[in-house]
Amino acid sequence: MTALCPGSFDPITLGHLDVIRRAHDIFGDVIVAVGRNSTKLNLFSLDERVALAGEAVADLPGVRVMPLDGLLARFALDHGARVLIKGLRFASEFDYELQMAHINRAVTGIETVFLPASAEFGALSSTMLREVASLGGDVSGFVTPAVGHAIQAKLAERASA
Ligand code: PNS
Repeated sequence: MTALCPGSFDPITLGHLDVIRRAHDIFGDVIVAVGRNSTKLNLFSLDERVALAGEAVADLPGVRVMPLDGLLARFALDHGARVLIKGLRFASEFDYELQMAHINRAVTGIETVFLPASAEFGALSSTMLREVASLGGDVSGFVTPAVGHAIQAKLAERASA
């Protein structure tokens, strides 16, 4: 069965990779769908986020990365995924995600499976990671080495612009 892990992945973190690997263990075939979240200020462009995620999952043969276009639930079905995977870190995320799960099933019939974030990643978010990195903090413990280098390069590029 194909499952789809959606997110903005700006950038992909070890927390995302933990959920993707566990989804891969359960479902075998996984699409990582990289979308735009209009409520967030991006650090990386969509193309950059897709490339970084693709590099991070390169060791997982059943995992593909695609840019997300249009309605998530329709995109998933169009690409053969009947299940959406959402990682949950804390209880306050549940209300919003439950609402999304209901609406996605109502409009297309697609199911949502929630995976609890592993304890070590329970407080990790790309939003906080971007904030810490932009203020000079070390985020290398939360991302792959390639993503860590990409963050440093992006911040240096912005500083010199
Ligand atoms: O990591 P994020 O920022 O929570 O990811 C959000 C994303 C990109 C998955 C979300 O904005 C999305 O699904 N966009 C596609 C449009 C859509 O279907 N929206 C309504 C239901 S989620």
